[in-house]
Amino acid sequence: MFPTDRPRRLRATPGMRRLVAETDVRPRHLVLPVFVAEGLDAPRPITSMPGVVQHTRDSLRKAAAEAAAAGLGGIMLFGVPSRRDAVGSGGTNPEGILNVALRDVRAEVGDAVPVMADTCLDEFTDHGHCGVLDDEGRVDNDATLPIYGQMAVAQADAGAHVVAPSGMMDGQVGVIRSALDEAGHRDTAILAYSAKYASAFYGPFREAVDSQLQGDRRTYQQDPANAREAAREAALDLDEGADMVMVKPAMAYLDVLRRVADSSDVPVAAYQVSGEYAMISAAVERGWLDRERTIVETLTGIRRAGADIVLTYWATEAAAWLDR
Ligand code: PBG
Repeated sequence: MFPTDRPRRLRATPGMRRLVAETDVRPRHLVLPVFVAEGLDAPRPITSMPGVVQHTRDSLRKAAAEAAAAGLGGIMLFGVPSRRDAVGSGGTNPEGILNVALRDVRAEVGDAVPVMADTCLDEFTDHGHCGVLDDEGRVDNDATLPIYGQMAVAQADAGAHVVAPSGMMDGQVGVIRSALDEAGHRDTAILAYSAKYASAFYGPFREAVDSQLQGDRRTYQQDPANAREAAREAALDLDEGADMVMVKPAMAYLDVLRRVADSSDVPVAAYQVSGEYAMISAAVERGWLDRERTIVETLTGIRRAGADIVLTYWATEAAAWLDR
């Protein structure tokens, strides 16, 4: 007896596999996160993320031009200031490194690729938390909100097409939306980090932004044990005016991504974070994994789980391996 059900028929040739592929990854689905540091003379490698650097203003312009030429979906900027303070003034100051770099990048790429900005205080505070602290040293949600509003306006003034609040303060999207609207930035979009977990996979990012953080972010970022909460966070952000929502990290949270994708009617992004990059890079360095195949497989898996958009430090490089 021959089996009559033969799924293998559809796998027999590359053309057949291409014909029936359900999920694809194209350059436009990818967003490149980049770091730009104040006062650098030359790009500075990040040891725990081989191939990723803290950019100078000049090298960032070049990276942005390459991202646009590669057909990427976007570029997301993170600033690394040379001085920090308790309230993160470098983030709201129009002359702060992130805002200056946003102007540089807009001058370089115009509207060819959406320019996005991380809207969060952790890179700018001397204590490394995503918000300002109260007298007891706890992150003060409500005192942080107006600063996020000012920061988003400074970023939009500097040319950001998209602001991306990543601090997990309750009410942040609503406050940012009103602040942008009042400042006349009605077309600046908000990509909300809706479901952001308190994850060990952010380890290398702390080196990337010279983070000053002592302790952890468990009082504001989500507990990895909880998935249902992610749908609630996304729903709140949508009510407050989020244009897109994000789940982060990606690979250890694919179930959460699927839930959020199923329960939201806006584009959903997933962030393949620094620790995911480091983990695969280390295994590749040892010859234990095939680089290109592993990277494309992870991006495909993240897309299959429901991401319309994937943030990945491999974006520009991976674009060269993908169909346009
Ligand atoms: C906060 C922020 C973090 C990351 C992106 N935005 C760090 C954190 O929440 O601790 C992590 C990104 C990565 O690990 O690649 N501004």
